Amino acid sequence: MSEVLGTRHLLGIDDLSAADMELIFRTADGFKEVLSRPIKKVPSLRDITIANLFFENSTRTRISFELAEKRLSADVVNFSSSTSSTKKGETLVDTVNNILSMKVDMVVMRHPDPGACIFLSRHVQARIVNAGDGTHEHPTQALLDAYSIREKLGRVKGVKVAIVGDILHSRVALSNVICLRKLGAEVMLCGPTTLMPRHARELGVLVSHDLNEALRWCDVANMLRIQLERQAGDGLAYFPSLREYSQLFGLDRKRLEAVGKQPVIMHPGPINRGVEITSEVADGGNSIILEQVENGVAVRMAVLFLLAGGMDRTAKG
Ligand code: CP
Repeated sequence: MSEVLGTRHLLGIDDLSAADMELIFRTADGFKEVLSRPIKKVPSLRDITIANLFFENSTRTRISFELAEKRLSADVVNFSSSTSSTKKGETLVDTVNNILSMKVDMVVMRHPDPGACIFLSRHVQARIVNAGDGTHEHPTQALLDAYSIREKLGRVKGVKVAIVGDILHSRVALSNVICLRKLGAEVMLCGPTTLMPRHARELGVLVSHDLNEALRWCDVANMLRIQLERQAGDGLAYFPSLREYSQLFGLDRKRLEAVGKQPVIMHPGPINRGVEITSEVADGGNSIILEQVENGVAVRMAVLFLLAGGMDRTAKG
């Protein structure tokens, strides 16, 4: 198997074949071992400069990418739109080209507009990694989620994963569906009809509007956050109240006891505690939420390392 990914950029999970994902996971296994050492650093990207461009808020992804880059000895520059000249009307391409003229090799970008990374990849020479583009995709989240399932259950193929919540606004849901199906998992999407994309079944998944049914079916329940900020942007009310949402789609100990099932519990964060999941379940014995965050660093190290492996280091820019 080739040790180089079959893609120049990671814009969406569809850029990767199942073999690419397996390569990322095996590479991440090695980096996880590095991260367990007293000195958690390797010189793999010593001559590479990476710009982290965040045009939308982030805690986990931003810190995880920055740590991954620093553990690989890359030079790192961070950009936040709230303190930049985009506030003075500069376009995305002008912003990025100005940064690239300072000899940046790779760009990790989060942006509120779906497709922003795809657009950028057509206008600049650097490798682009999508760190979340609006309601479209979040490919490294899907990779770290699948990696965490593989670590917990020993495999992804054949595992039944229920993704629960605000599917309509979730880039995590779309990337997870594509990633998990490529790896041979079965996927069920569960949520209110108002928060389910009309063509969800065309993604090759099961659809349920009954959380108990989804829990009885699944080995893994990935609980998603209600994205109130995107719902407000739509100017629409998708359900009567958070209290009602929580009663119908919130995960708590009583519900798990009632269905008689103890699935592995996941959540990409940030968690709305007491809305989609109670603290008791989020912090309980079946939760791998913090393992997801931990694995994110190793998985992102693997993605950056493998993308850089396909770069011509003699002709940067
Ligand atoms: N999971 C995730 O993308 O979290 P952040 O928005 O904090 O990066």
